[in-house]
Amino acid sequence: MTATSARSTETSAGQATRRHYLMCPPAYFTVEYVINPWMDPDQPVDTALAVAQWEELKNTYLRLGHTVDTIEPQPGLPDMVFAANSGTVIEGRVLGAKFRAPERAAEAEHFRRWFLAHGYRDVVMPTRINEAEGDFAWTGEVLLAGTGFRTDPAAHAEAQEFLGVPVVSLNLVDERYYHLDTALFVLDKAPNAQIAYFPEAFSEGSRRVLARMFPDAVIADEADAACLGLNGVSDGRHVVLPEEATGLAKQLDDRGYEVIPLDMSELRKSGGGPKCCTMELHS
Ligand code: ARG
Repeated sequence: MTATSARSTETSAGQATRRHYLMCPPAYFTVEYVINPWMDPDQPVDTALAVAQWEELKNTYLRLGHTVDTIEPQPGLPDMVFAANSGTVIEGRVLGAKFRAPERAAEAEHFRRWFLAHGYRDVVMPTRINEAEGDFAWTGEVLLAGTGFRTDPAAHAEAQEFLGVPVVSLNLVDERYYHLDTALFVLDKAPNAQIAYFPEAFSEGSRRVLARMFPDAVIADEADAACLGLNGVSDGRHVVLPEEATGLAKQLDDRGYEVIPLDMSELRKSGGGPKCCTMELHS
């Protein structure tokens, strides 16, 4: 028996599926305020390098056959590059964002307008703090939802009601992993939904929930988490990761995924990685 045929369908990579992403070029990217432990305004930021890293990410998606839309960046909104935080889109319904930090509040309206201008009819803005795909991960079956640092737990109920999908709330307990997407990502959607995560970022009860729902999940270690390796983007087969996440890359490779390591070092100065830069418009 070959290694490939020995893999069970739940634990190995499946087929890639075409994805539709929305991204925002980091033209005004910088670190000038502190809203997470990664941010240090005294550390210099090379905006041109951030743009080059972002272009590489975007070109990777295009090369894989995905569709990438972009939204116009805005001066004065240095974190707007983190498009994942501005909307949760499932089957045409758009739940916008309501940021915790006043510095980011204005981003939400730019994205709301983008959706309206691009033919989305069901666009609703949350009444509770909701940092969208930063804290929401769609498995195709359930919406995994993080809380603890940013998104209000009441926003989870709001998401369930508007999107009409079951929501599973998870508690984040380590401030370095302030958004769900810094501690967990979806490798494969239902019917063989699979995730990778860093258990220590979650409360004891939430760890038990994840172990119950995903007994064969890829378990990342501290070194993978500390380079924001859990901020990956998968199309079901190809997985874009920060290049430092070598342990995680090895585990994914063993399961038949094709890992694409990228240098995201400049965007990490703001606490971001590939996924933060990528809002998926789930059809
Ligand atoms: N500086 C941004 C913030 O703290 C980074 C957001 C990263 N985005 C994400 N989806 N985790 O809000």
